[in-house]
Amino acid sequence: MNKMPNAPITSGPPNSNHPLRDEIVGVDRQVPLLDGSWAPYINLDNAASTPPFRRVREKVDEAMEVYASIHRGAGFKSLLSTHLYDKARQVVADFVGADQATQCVIFVKNATEAINKLANRFPFQPGDLVLTSMMEHHSNDLPWRARCKVLYAGLLPDGSLDVDDLTTKLRQNAGKIKLVAITGASNVTGTMPPIYEIAELAHQYGARILVDCAQLLPHRPIDMGPSDSPRHLDFIAFSAHKVYAPFGSGGLIGPKDFFEEQAPDYVGGGTVEIVTLDEVQWTQAPERDEAGSPNVIGAVALAAALQQLNEAGMDALVEHEKALTREALELLQDIPGVRLFGPTDPNRLDDRLGVIPFELVGMPHAKLAAIMSYEGGIGLRNGCFCAHPYVLHLLNVSNDEYLSYRARVLDHDRSHLPGFVRASFGCYNTLEEVHQLADTLKRVSSGEVQGDYLPDRGSGSYYPRGFEMQQMDAFFTF
Ligand SMILES: Cc1ncc(COP(=O)(O)O)c(C=O)c1O
Repeated sequence: MNKMPNAPITSGPPNSNHPLRDEIVGVDRQVPLLDGSWAPYINLDNAASTPPFRRVREKVDEAMEVYASIHRGAGFKSLLSTHLYDKARQVVADFVGADQATQCVIFVKNATEAINKLANRFPFQPGDLVLTSMMEHHSNDLPWRARCKVLYAGLLPDGSLDVDDLTTKLRQNAGKIKLVAITGASNVTGTMPPIYEIAELAHQYGARILVDCAQLLPHRPIDMGPSDSPRHLDFIAFSAHKVYAPFGSGGLIGPKDFFEEQAPDYVGGGTVEIVTLDEVQWTQAPERDEAGSPNVIGAVALAAALQQLNEAGMDALVEHEKALTREALELLQDIPGVRLFGPTDPNRLDDRLGVIPFELVGMPHAKLAAIMSYEGGIGLRNGCFCAHPYVLHLLNVSNDEYLSYRARVLDHDRSHLPGFVRASFGCYNTLEEVHQLADTLKRVSSGEVQGDYLPDRGSGSYYPRGFEMQQMDAFFTF
């Protein structure tokens, strides 16, 4: 354990660092490799969760000093905590162009809870439809299936949204489709449906729109727009842990009057004006939809992260992430045996994020991800990314193949699941890290693998024979 964390990462090519790199907690941490050496961890799994900004940690610490019960607490710290919570709401609203006079920011625990809440709260009538797409994360698909019939807009051959198909479905079901629930960016391929154009179409055909901004929020500016604009976004949902603020919060934003029309889905303390044994008068939005004691610290963390992004400037961040994506697409396509999925043109970066799915033909995705980690210190993700229909489609899995996978999974054997590997960039990644990704992948592709990797039937993961995991206690103990 002599080479413990904190050695600085070697500097990358000129201008490869975004200023926000210095703001990331733990960015220099070294991790152990299979051969006994240590290397700076290269986190390319930002689509799953991002590390925290220092500012977030500092603001959370600061807030802890004054933290006390919020809402109706009479003490000074209670008043302060209520003030912090309200301020956080304003920061979030401002970040996405929401006006709290007519729209409300409901703090939830993550995007999944936000979308479930909207599904619970949407006043569907028998025969109503929701239109979503084939590329959605399960969190923007399953909550709708639970409430009504769902239509799926199709995809183009490169995995991007077929907007013509979406339009046709909207036209053919005008009046019945009450909501278009679409992702702002795919967590599998990074492809970004044209959300403002889709908003206009949805409104034209009498539907509202929810944009799942879980992926979009940390990477692109979002403007919900005024409600009288045909291109406005009615609802958005997102998670703070994907925006450099992993303190258990997220948001659902939508029209105040929508949430004030019906009873909340979760009821209890904080949701009411007055209660007798015979009746309940619900309070106003957003408090009506925040049952129980709220996550004040999570809200502060989210607001601090958004302020940090604002100060750094989203435009500069977008350009930096585009440069990383361009470089990665160019380098990975040149590696023998590597196959990319989704849009692959390095010059078409306006409608995609830096989320790049790939495979090394002939190698199980879980094995490739394990080698990249144990031999390169590179954190990637593999599998189906909570978007099974989309991944099965991109892999062109036949129904018979699907049935065979299904039988194995139901038999608790996840070792042969379809899928691929995903690299996803954050604002703090560098061109040097992209080069290290490509170099390590090139070595694996040419057969330079040190370890003997064994699959675990239950989890589907691969582990190198002989690697000792006890080292974990050197990083953290309770
Ligand atoms: C596009 C998209 N939507 C929704 C979610 C769900 O987010 P959470 O797990 O934070 O609720 C994710 C998470 O990966 C996502 O990528």
